[in-house]
Amino acid sequence: MAPHPLSALSLGETNLARDIVKDGYSDVVIQFRQILLHEPPKSQVTAFLDLEHAGKVTAETLRPERLALVTYDVIGGSKFPEYHESIVDLRERKRVGHEVVSADTHHGSLAIHEFETLVQVVQDSPLFQAKIQELALPEGFEVVVEPWPYGAPDAADGRKRLFQALIFARDTRSGNADSNFYAYPLPLIPVMDAHTKEIIRIEELATGGKGDPLTGKTHAARLLDHNAASEYVPELLPEGTRQDLKPLGVVQPDGPSFSVTDGNLIQWQKWSMRATFNSREGAVLHDIRYDGRSILYRLSMSDMTVPYADARPPFHRKQAFDFGDGGLGHCVNNLALGCDCLGVIKYFDGVLVGSDGTATETKNVICLHEQDNGIGWKHTNWRTGRAVVTRRRELVVQFIITLANYEYAFNFIFDQAAGITVESRATGIVSVVHIDEGKTSDYGNVVSPGVLAQNHQHVFCVRIDPAIDGHKNTVVQEESLPVRLDKRTNPNGNFYEIRKTEIATSAGLDAAPHNNRIFKIQNHSKTNPISGRPVGYKLTPPPTQLLLADPNCTQSRRALFARHHLWVTKYKDHELYAGGKYTLQSSLEVGGVADAAARNDDVLDQDLVLWSVFGLTHNPRVEDWPVMPVEIMQLHLTPADFFTRNPAIDVPSNKDLTSKQVMGDVTEAIACCKL
Ligand code: CU
Repeated sequence: MAPHPLSALSLGETNLARDIVKDGYSDVVIQFRQILLHEPPKSQVTAFLDLEHAGKVTAETLRPERLALVTYDVIGGSKFPEYHESIVDLRERKRVGHEVVSADTHHGSLAIHEFETLVQVVQDSPLFQAKIQELALPEGFEVVVEPWPYGAPDAADGRKRLFQALIFARDTRSGNADSNFYAYPLPLIPVMDAHTKEIIRIEELATGGKGDPLTGKTHAARLLDHNAASEYVPELLPEGTRQDLKPLGVVQPDGPSFSVTDGNLIQWQKWSMRATFNSREGAVLHDIRYDGRSILYRLSMSDMTVPYADARPPFHRKQAFDFGDGGLGHCVNNLALGCDCLGVIKYFDGVLVGSDGTATETKNVICLHEQDNGIGWKHTNWRTGRAVVTRRRELVVQFIITLANYEYAFNFIFDQAAGITVESRATGIVSVVHIDEGKTSDYGNVVSPGVLAQNHQHVFCVRIDPAIDGHKNTVVQEESLPVRLDKRTNPNGNFYEIRKTEIATSAGLDAAPHNNRIFKIQNHSKTNPISGRPVGYKLTPPPTQLLLADPNCTQSRRALFARHHLWVTKYKDHELYAGGKYTLQSSLEVGGVADAAARNDDVLDQDLVLWSVFGLTHNPRVEDWPVMPVEIMQLHLTPADFFTRNPAIDVPSNKDLTSKQVMGDVTEAIACCKL
């Protein structure tokens, strides 16, 4: 029997996909990039889900096809490697789709082996070694090569597949492998041709400050002499760690309130959903329901871009698409119990593939746990003094990625009042370059001697595929607007109007906090019996700054998705990536959300998709160094006339018996809640 249509590719299926592709070739080398589940058409999945939720699925029920998308290079003799994509039918054991992606239009996503090659080629380069010699590093320092995608390319780069590396020095004298090399940036960026595996040039970076030209050498002969250690691993902290912290544990004596069955079916109180992991998007949630009612068909992180704002060439090429460029793959963290997640934890494993296509299981890539988030709701009857208080318990699905210097923790959070929060936490080490002694810069902030943390943005896109009580939904923009004093209609000037605008065609839309602009995803065929309005969920677009780069520059053109806060498009199978399928070294976003919106599709009462864009304009603070405290961004989806009352009203107000009172007068405990 085929697996559930909303389950990720297993180890066996992934290896089978590899074998089917390999069988199609002889006399050539196949180097694999990714093997992903090619999700079945939504129509097939929803037909299956309808039966499943009606309790009518049996062993004989026809299950949707199991397809895999396999991306790989075909390397034959002296020929330039060709990038191929195949769709493989795992049941029929044959290739059912195939495309050669022209290197004239797109670059295939990067693979970890390319980064490994880059590091080796840079280290072995006599040209690079000579440049390092010139920098006269202090005794005991070694060179660290950090691979990066070649962000926004210039026209002169042509169609060559290029990679670049940032270079640092590491003080080895402590003998600790985790001594922080980012404290010693070196002003070199080698660029490698991925095909010839040659260093084609080494950019020498300007290290000046305000008033200095955009190019040219200004640094001292021994440039690291003014840099200083900036350690973060506890054993290297000069004063050690603080000593006044007592344990704070999460105790769940009866276990968690969630269950996981059938491999990936999560049930928690009235919520149900299925979780999968793939190396392109990380954790993906499917078929999200509350009390049996459908809310979302699919929820995922679609893409993100991190452009740097240092005007000095070649820093315009520091622009990563941390999902699109190469997927999360080997950047995903294996989460640790009692560290990344507290309490009673359920972990999910993931499948990754190596360059030979062999699948390996990577442990603990998603964690599932409950957390307490303060008060959920409370009321005290002022006449009797009786208070009823409930705690806000949340269910968290988390994954974390490390991309060179940065980390991101992504959380999908479900609460008892049927709300959904998508949270992104940026932490890790800000990306830095060298700056001369005593100088300051318009391009960033000096966070440590000789270390300039460059200004940049993080722009995220969350893909929300709604199914509010069904798949035909409508998005309505709602604004609260002032109304002029009018003798007849607004005699005292206190009235404000709620203006509703249906989004009729696919489009990019913007936040407007001064108008309290929100967007409701409604089902116009279902009416709330209390309010008489359509049932729906409300999305408040976080009013964060959009992409700042000039609209006519490459940084901006390759991230069109980052130009609006919310996109509404008509659903199309396999249209999942806001920045398009091919972001690596792209000069233009192709096949992304901007193209989808440009179809001008009718989105009234249709199967539609919302793409929420938000982010952080990050002008670093000294306190972001050496590792930045988490910067938290949240997107909220909350029911709006979906239920007939507060859905959390039935949450018991149980008293937590492990709580104790300390200090102050021990008076009789106030009866806050019923035992
Ligand atoms: Cu940042």
